[in-house]
Amino acid sequence: MSPGLYTSLVRPLLFRLDPERAHELAIGGLAAASPVLGRLRRPPTSPALAVDALGLRFPNPVGLAAGLDKRAAAVPAWPALGFGFAEIGTVTAEPQPGNPRPRIHRLPADRALINRLGFNNEGAEATARRLARWRRRGLLGRAPLGVNLGKSKVTPPEAAPADYARSLEALWGFADYVTVNVSSPNTPGLRDLQAAGPLGEILAALDAVNRRLARAHGRPPRSVLVKLAPDLEPGQADAAVDLALERGLAGVIVTNTTLRREGLASPPTLAALEGGLSGAPLRERSTAMVRRVAARAGGALAVVGVGGVFDADDAWEKLAAGAALVQVYTGFVYGGPGTARAICAGLEARMAREGVARVAEIGGGGRR
Ligand SMILES: Cc1cc2nc3c(=O)[nH]c(=O)nc-3n(C[C@H](O)[C@H](O)[C@H](O)COP(=O)(O)O)c2cc1C
Repeated sequence: MSPGLYTSLVRPLLFRLDPERAHELAIGGLAAASPVLGRLRRPPTSPALAVDALGLRFPNPVGLAAGLDKRAAAVPAWPALGFGFAEIGTVTAEPQPGNPRPRIHRLPADRALINRLGFNNEGAEATARRLARWRRRGLLGRAPLGVNLGKSKVTPPEAAPADYARSLEALWGFADYVTVNVSSPNTPGLRDLQAAGPLGEILAALDAVNRRLARAHGRPPRSVLVKLAPDLEPGQADAAVDLALERGLAGVIVTNTTLRREGLASPPTLAALEGGLSGAPLRERSTAMVRRVAARAGGALAVVGVGGVFDADDAWEKLAAGAALVQVYTGFVYGGPGTARAICAGLEARMAREGVARVAEIGGGGRR
């Protein structure tokens, strides 16, 4: 579907529905179409678009951000729609219903969303069973798959390391990379786990499982990334990067949604709703954090830039700031199923215009 057809015809219909209902319809449709889509279509790639990062080859740098396919319901559809990788989850060890509805809101005047879903998901074991079904049908492996892990709500903070480790145990076999989500604003106390002490313990527990399973399967350990909130103070972000470096992580995802609300055009009744804000108002903040994190990491971590990417110029901005890859969530809701392909085409066209041979050179090159 062309972006024009989506924005003129399909989006107005979807946007008349409750946002979560529209989301369920879209995911349901993509899940049903997944087996066919996954066999018919491949993500766009070319020597210019391909990216080597996290020990993996990405056909292109445009990924699906976590939260859109929490249940791995439509995994084969994402590469078919053009995404160079997809991140499922957040998955928690325990199945959980999330917060009461309504819990997703649109802010069209700002091209933004506010959500306070609270990690509604089926739990790690059920998600692993669904992934195993996709694998049996030969529908995995078109593009790298990330698995985003969070803490179960019932688990107290001191038991978080074991909780994350349990999820990894169930999902290790399906993950090309693993994201440690300590930055959602919708699980009480979760963001406190970004501090070096608690995060270090979670990473140590995950590392033990990762190494044990790698040895048992005769494969290299999975790349591990940590996903950060845009609301960290610069010093806190630096400390998280230093810890990631010290622990030998492969990368950092920058950023999750924000609790800040300045500069919104939407009416205060909407702007004041509880939850994490995503989309256009987050873009510059997240890019600034990409720049800071990439500079601090000095090429030793792959930075995944996410927040307010709607088009190729937004993606370019993140890559130029030092991101190796980008991800999209809200841009997909507003732009529709053609979004990833349009971003890839736009990136390639701009690279040709500016004489840039490879995506990795947009930000100056030389990162892993
Ligand atoms: C409705 C919704 C649900 C989300 N759920 C998750 C999640 O489960 N885990 C996670 O790490 N991020 C989640 N996110 C955050 C996105 O992955 C992304 O970091 C953020 O929305 C910024 O990107 P965007 O501006 O392209 O949306 C969610 C975002 C939205 C809008």
